[in-house]
Amino acid sequence: MHLLHMSVVLYILNTLLGAVHGHAYLTDPPGRNSMWRFGFNAMINYSDNDQNCGGFLHQKYLGGKCGMCGDPYDQPAPRDNEAGGKYATGTISKYYTAGSTIDITVRITMNHLGFFEFRLCENNDVTKTITKKCLKHLLVNPETGETKRYFGDRTGDIVTRVKLPKNVTCSQCVLQWRYKTGNSWGTDDQGSCLGCGPQEEFYGCSDIAISSSGVTNEASTPKTSTLLTTSSTASTTKTTAAPTESTTNSNKTTTAPTDSTTDSNKTTTVPTESTTGTTTTTTVPTESTTDTTTTTTAHPKTKRSCVSIAVNAEDKWCNTNCNHDPSFCPPYLCSCN
Ligand SMILES: *[C@@H]1O[C@H](CO)[C@@H](O)[C@H](O)[C@H]1NC(C)=O
Ligand SMILES: *[C@@H]1O[C@H](CO)[C@@H](O)[C@H](O)[C@H]1NC(C)=O
Ligand SMILES: *[C@@H]1O[C@H](CO)[C@@H](O)[C@H](O)[C@H]1NC(C)=O
Ligand SMILES: *[C@@H]1O[C@H](CO)[C@@H](O)[C@H](O)[C@H]1NC(C)=O
Repeated sequence: MHLLHMSVVLYILNTLLGAVHGHAYLTDPPGRNSMWRFGFNAMINYSDNDQNCGGFLHQKYLGGKCGMCGDPYDQPAPRDNEAGGKYATGTISKYYTAGSTIDITVRITMNHLGFFEFRLCENNDVTKTITKKCLKHLLVNPETGETKRYFGDRTGDIVTRVKLPKNVTCSQCVLQWRYKTGNSWGTDDQGSCLGCGPQEEFYGCSDIAISSSGVTNEASTPKTSTLLTTSSTASTTKTTAAPTESTTNSNKTTTAPTDSTTDSNKTTTVPTESTTGTTTTTTVPTESTTDTTTTTTAHPKTKRSCVSIAVNAEDKWCNTNCNHDPSFCPPYLCSCN
């Protein structure tokens, strides 16, 4: 009831302040303030796709400075997504093996061009705030040799392949995702262009553990990795508990809760994260996902293939609920063919 209440308040706030505009968030491994989406017992934040240093102008005003995990630089310590902050619970969201090649997934809800970079800090202390100095491992795609991941104007899940350093093991490492956008006109020593100079940036931090290959029990069990939902699948639980689960196999550590009743309640009270009402300073015209929104009425008999068009719903959720009888398929959340 309390949550419901808060959602309503948030909804009203969002309406007053203009639509929340979607951008991007780290989903695999889940970023600290996105963990709630993936069955972890973590605080909910529907604006987890908006972790942009307080906004481009704010970051610019502060001389380009930003918190290590995307909070506004001038936010009083502890910042929300740094150790001690409300989203940094210390829960390890995924286990890896040193030296392995892993796929990192970022969900883009609105494309702003630009590129991603991933850095790793061997922290080994969930109460210790990470520093730039600690984030010394800039991760490389072993296939291309590149550290910058460009992905054009795509939206949806962008997978980036990187190799973890051979010699880094940790009970807690912080994986930092940085998204430097490229849709503002700017000037730097290369000249003036779209994407030159300072741009809006997004960040996410994820707590992971890395064990040396072959060692089964070295990495500790997560302190607080209680999974929320009873509906979490066996594989989810397994992946969370087993330190040495290799990165290649894991079928989605990130299984979304499938309990449709709970989810429907939640979703209806949620701020709508509309993909339409952009209040951005974007100069790129063609990125809206709105056009594909179809106001299909329910035909539960024929199974439709549905995808999420909003950050607060998962594809799986859409598939389940749009095909459910009776159907619950809000056009502002899901799009079906
Ligand atoms: C949710 O996350 C966004 C992005 O980091 C942040 O701006 C906002 O303040 C957070 N909301 C709450 C209630 O913590
Ligand atoms: C780990 O390997 C990197 C290169 O991959 C190297 O720069 C660094 O010095 C090594 N660190 C240790 C502690 O061996
Ligand atoms: C999960 O992965 C295992 C092997 O890694 C496979 O046998 C199993 O079918 C997969 N489960 C799902 C639901 O994909
Ligand atoms: C969801 O709605 C059902 C029926 O409308 C209600 O029984 C249930 O308590 C609700 N759950 C939550 C979490 O609000």
